[in-house]
Amino acid sequence: MSQTGKKGLAQYRSINEDDEETLALRGRRQRRSPVCIWGSFFALMTGTLVFIGATFALLAGFGFFSAPGDARGNETACELPNVRVNCIPEGGRSETEDVCLERGCCWAKEETPSCFYPKGFGYAVDGQPADTSTGKTVNLTRKTGQPSQYGGDIKTVRVDIFYETSYRLRVKLWDPRKKRYEVPLPTPEPQGQASNPLYKVSISREDSFSFTVQRTSASRDIFSTATGLILSSQYLQLTGILPSDNIYGLGEHAMDRFKLLTNNSVLTLFSRDQPPNPDKPGQNLYGVHPFYLCMEQDGSSHGVFLLNSNAMEIELGPLPSVTYRTIGGILDFYFFLGPSPEAVVQQYTEVIGRPFMPPYWSLGFHLCRWGYDTANNTLKVVERMRDSGIPQIMCPPQQGRTGSG
Ligand SMILES: *[C@@H]1O[C@H](CO)[C@@H](O)[C@H](O)[C@H]1NC(C)=O
Ligand SMILES: *[C@@H]1O[C@H](CO)[C@@H](O)[C@H](O)[C@H]1NC(C)=O
Ligand SMILES: *[C@@H]1O[C@H](CO)[C@@H](O)[C@H](O)[C@H]1NC(C)=O
Ligand SMILES: *[C@@H]1O[C@H](CO)[C@@H](O)[C@H](O)[C@H]1NC(C)=O
Repeated sequence: MSQTGKKGLAQYRSINEDDEETLALRGRRQRRSPVCIWGSFFALMTGTLVFIGATFALLAGFGFFSAPGDARGNETACELPNVRVNCIPEGGRSETEDVCLERGCCWAKEETPSCFYPKGFGYAVDGQPADTSTGKTVNLTRKTGQPSQYGGDIKTVRVDIFYETSYRLRVKLWDPRKKRYEVPLPTPEPQGQASNPLYKVSISREDSFSFTVQRTSASRDIFSTATGLILSSQYLQLTGILPSDNIYGLGEHAMDRFKLLTNNSVLTLFSRDQPPNPDKPGQNLYGVHPFYLCMEQDGSSHGVFLLNSNAMEIELGPLPSVTYRTIGGILDFYFFLGPSPEAVVQQYTEVIGRPFMPPYWSLGFHLCRWGYDTANNTLKVVERMRDSGIPQIMCPPQQGRTGSG
């Protein structure tokens, strides 16, 4: 069950290890005199100049030389917010007060998570949002003195809001100065904007930038972003507060239930040719579907899809809330207003593509596996099935899967 997979992305990237190393160095910087630090630092660097150069590049990349954001001395910023966005998502040895404060975050030992982003951590709204022919646009600027611990923070972010149809909204946060990877999926390109949408989007600049999507008919907020927005070169994070904990989807995972757990459960998505194994629940699996369906209290449903194909993890918190963390691409969200669950799924597949109609013959009995290393061995299996009177329409030896596969 990947909800226990606190290790999450740490399995796939060394950023967390690098981070720990960097933070360990930062910790040392705090406790010892600078002379002693640099003394021991260079004593460690007995390697070549190239190695030292590379290390400096790494440290600079992780913000070693920039002033960390500082929530200390500002108790207002650390009053427990209604949603606590984990500032030490990698957990483990890093989960200490020192590391927490060094990241400019707030520490409350008794809480889960103990280390969380202060109010107002993120981006400031730059000027006024402007109307466009398809919706709205607004520029954001990274707040000064609040670097993320991940390095390469994107300083200026563009938020484009598209009122695509009455039931479909798209919100795209991207870097206007540098092209980043976007999933090459052809998506509908609406002209103009929906005239009578089921939703309303509002932008807030209080503390920091946030946006809220509301279901107009019920005046209900269905997705309201919280503190801790990060868009950096290799780490993007956004938290949304949800109207109900009836949340389904976010496959492929091995959580043994349809209604997802929201006790800070973590689902990791990074596809790999690997079947589910109940004994190793944190493993990555075949499919990646960063889509959930949420049923609101009155039975209306909506769906949220993050169009991003990088390795990601999604944490569901008790408020309830959802936190997306991904290591690349952009934050490109689609909201589907349903309101029936069937309508939500139809609206979703309208964007990602419908499943195809399977051919009639493919509905028959199949025998499929890897390990048929020669044509003769495949033939033997077919004959064995025939001899035993087992009906069979297809016996496809899987491509690229010969021998022990
Ligand atoms: C402390 O944090 C609050 C809430 O984010 C903010 O409004 C205020 O300006 C901060 N005060 C200082 C001195 O930074
Ligand atoms: C956002 O920034 C760009 C580039 O500086 C500018 O052309 C555009 O007018 C800005 N948009 C808004 C809504 O301020
Ligand atoms: C959430 O609850 C489930 C079931 O009660 C439990 O197995 C799991 O460990 C919990 N997860 C976390 C992160 O607390
Ligand atoms: C496959 O089986 C046929 C018939 O039994 C035999 O003649 C042939 O040598 C076999 N081929 C291989 C590569 O074993």
